[in-house]
Amino acid sequence: MDIAAVNALPYEDFVNIFGNVVEKCPVITAAVWTGRPFASLSALEAAINEFIDALPESGKEGILRCHPDLAGRDLHSGTLTQESREEQARAGMDALNTEEASRMARLNDEYKKRFGFPFVVCARMSDKANILRQLSQRCQNERAVERARGIDEVKKICRLRLQGLVLTDAPNKL
Ligand code: GUN
Repeated sequence: MDIAAVNALPYEDFVNIFGNVVEKCPVITAAVWTGRPFASLSALEAAINEFIDALPESGKEGILRCHPDLAGRDLHSGTLTQESREEQARAGMDALNTEEASRMARLNDEYKKRFGFPFVVCARMSDKANILRQLSQRCQNERAVERARGIDEVKKICRLRLQGLVLTDAPNKL
């Protein structure tokens, strides 16, 4: 789909297709629809990022809370969104050994206890060793630093999800 096709979508189709570019936050997609027509995929991405940036801190934390734990309960019970399942699988989250799985669970819990929202990282830009290292390091941060860092990761996840749905702006990419 190119950006002209995106701009021609009725609201319902737009939300059906793009509703999960920010995990379980279709309200963001619903809000940016008003900003059509988008000049490019980057313009659509910018509209989403601007909406997120304009939220109060509680709203940003709400976005983080919509994310499932990596290698968490939803993965084991098969209730992840398709996007999250693919991203987690690609980062090896569905193939942790017993030791890695228990370390991951312990650190995820420690992180959530400390900050009140889950650890979010762009899994597709990482692998299991790196994710475990980042999780352990980021547990040491201040809450405001982690809130901002988590939102940066949400934006990276969003960018990759958008790129999977819309032809990128580069003219040589078909
Ligand atoms: N990174 C990519 N997808 C996800 C997700 O669904 N949850 C978390 N915590 N991180 C992610």
